[in-house]
Amino acid sequence: MKPLVIALPGNEDFAGRLADRLGAEQGTMATRHFPDGETYVRLACNVSERDVILVSTLDRPDDKTLRLLFTAEAVRDLGAAKVGLVAPYLAYMRQDRRFLPGEAITSKTYARVLSGSFDWMVTVDPHLHRRSSMSEIYTIPVAVCHAAPSITEWIGTNVTNPIVIGPDVESEQWVSAVAGAAGAPFTVLEKHRSGDRDVDITVRDIGQWRDRIPVLVDDIISSGRTMEVATKQLIAHGLAAPVIVGVHGIFADDAFERLQAAGARQIVSTNAIPHISNAIDLSQLVQRSISNLGRAPSFS
Ligand code: R5P
Repeated sequence: MKPLVIALPGNEDFAGRLADRLGAEQGTMATRHFPDGETYVRLACNVSERDVILVSTLDRPDDKTLRLLFTAEAVRDLGAAKVGLVAPYLAYMRQDRRFLPGEAITSKTYARVLSGSFDWMVTVDPHLHRRSSMSEIYTIPVAVCHAAPSITEWIGTNVTNPIVIGPDVESEQWVSAVAGAAGAPFTVLEKHRSGDRDVDITVRDIGQWRDRIPVLVDDIISSGRTMEVATKQLIAHGLAAPVIVGVHGIFADDAFERLQAAGARQIVSTNAIPHISNAIDLSQLVQRSISNLGRAPSFS
């Protein structure tokens, strides 16, 4: 039987693309809030004995997660053979240690909760900085897709003479992969973060790249402060207005407008999180990972 792909609200476009690529059927669900704020979920399709794939990207996760867990549980109760999760953006990966005494290590708790509700998961470039593998916190198989080849392809088609720039040392893993495949030079800046929205960036030795188009690449654009400060610094150092590329464009509050005001030439994101800046489709990448799950999965 073909797998059944069900979109949680807001994920219809990605789920549709994915179902087409997988040759899967699409199922539907209904969800709303009761007057008291509690969540109602109803599966409007027959999931019995089906391999069900729930698609829910997990930016702004607190509201989405409970609904997702209720849906997964209902799908299982109603007799699904397997319940998988496609979460192109996976939340709660950044609080991966106690930075201050007494802090909750939410990445661990979140992993335990999702692992308890799904048989497998596919995600894209989770924020794995201080952990080397998803299996350190997730107890289900997790296939990790990397957006770098898709970003490289986009740059190759849309930017002439690029210099790929990471806003901080942590971004070197994406920037080096993208630049290497694009045959472009790359460099990373030095970032110091002193608060959620307090970011300083130091730029060194970039004068030689003044004849190139800077392409700032990072995994997450959240408050946008990292990209905003980096954009201003590059322009202040005499570089051309940069193109900004984020794998996961969360764009909290007015982040997108602030990046435009900072002087960005163009702001681009993947469709891991639906946004007007989406220009890079990851559905094929995710489809391949799901197809590989049935063969020789490369779980990380
Ligand atoms: C940090 O390690 C990440 O790679 C991003 O640089 C960070 O999440 C961006 O956050 P913001 O947009 O809030 O500066």
